[in-house]
Amino acid sequence: MGAFNPLSESERIKERIITWRRDFHMYPELKYEEERTSGIVEEHLREWGYSIKRVGTGIIADIGEGEKTIALRADMDALPVQEENDVPYKSRIPGKMHACGHDAHTAMLLGAAKIIAEHIDEFNGRVRLIFQPAEEGGNGAVKMIEGGALEGVDSIFGFHVWMDLPSGLIGIRDGPFLAGAGIFDGRILGKGGHGASPHESIDPIPVLAELILALQTVVSRNINPVESGVVSVTSVHSGTAFNVIPEEAGFKGTFRFFKPEVGELIQRRMRELLDGITKAHGVRYELSVEDLTPPTINSPEMASFARGVAERYNLKYGEVPPTMGAEDFAFYLQKVPGAFLALGIRNEERGIVYPHHHPKFDVDEDALYLGTAMEVALAFEFLRD
Ligand code: NI
Repeated sequence: MGAFNPLSESERIKERIITWRRDFHMYPELKYEEERTSGIVEEHLREWGYSIKRVGTGIIADIGEGEKTIALRADMDALPVQEENDVPYKSRIPGKMHACGHDAHTAMLLGAAKIIAEHIDEFNGRVRLIFQPAEEGGNGAVKMIEGGALEGVDSIFGFHVWMDLPSGLIGIRDGPFLAGAGIFDGRILGKGGHGASPHESIDPIPVLAELILALQTVVSRNINPVESGVVSVTSVHSGTAFNVIPEEAGFKGTFRFFKPEVGELIQRRMRELLDGITKAHGVRYELSVEDLTPPTINSPEMASFARGVAERYNLKYGEVPPTMGAEDFAFYLQKVPGAFLALGIRNEERGIVYPHHHPKFDVDEDALYLGTAMEVALAFEFLRD
């Protein structure tokens, strides 16, 4: 025998991956503050022989030589959430928590880094590891790309632990997986006055109420029913006193889509509705609309390559449904073919059922080595031919 087996190699360091994950979990860091986490990652990578390029709190690490380069990516940031789990590895930092599992992503890729380094002679090419900051609303991926993360890269893969899949199952999807996301922030500018004399003012509140209802028609009446989109007004602010008609009414929210044309349609209809309604009531408005993240679209070839790899190493895999959540891995996939994969971490018996970003979110740690195994196997197989 003696054939290189990513699964048994990963199983051998299973406990080590869990120890790393628990350490990162205890000391969560928010976007662009990942000093401690990246420091630990860098120290290990240097020890294992990687060449390192720093991009702020992010790391680009290379090992091996050859014609082809595969990139593997993990995100490192935590969320401003107060942890409510009662576990020995509970967050030691008040108000901060790894509530999305990026601690697990970092630990899994660190495990893969170790195995790849130990067997680099058997890899016929170069492996690039990307440990990125600020996935949660910071678009850290963009900073990493600007820092050269994709230079010379032929293909890229990334993992997200996934509460909606049973523990250990690898979810692989062709095409759109996570949605594109945008945000909007606007104000209706009326004319304030006495609450008892509405005729002397222009009340922005009914105008905003009308707008919010009209926005509900964008998805239900404007988008082709076989496509999908979301428009959610999530924040509304106006007025301070019961007898004063306020000058203005503000609103914020998010929209989601899988196809760029749907995203454009949502933005266009939002402006048209706002134009028409404010005109009808004789008020002005301000609106800023921002694209945050494009949709995460897996290359069907790379998804099918991943299925083949899972098959070859006896890793359980299946379909994963798309979600309207967004992920900045999308930016890498706009430039380089690849796939974003899911690793099931749900374990009902252990009570690991709470959704991502919940104060009781946790991961079934027994599955993590499988993510590591898949990462190593993807790199090994991609560089093989
Ligand atoms: Ni996440």
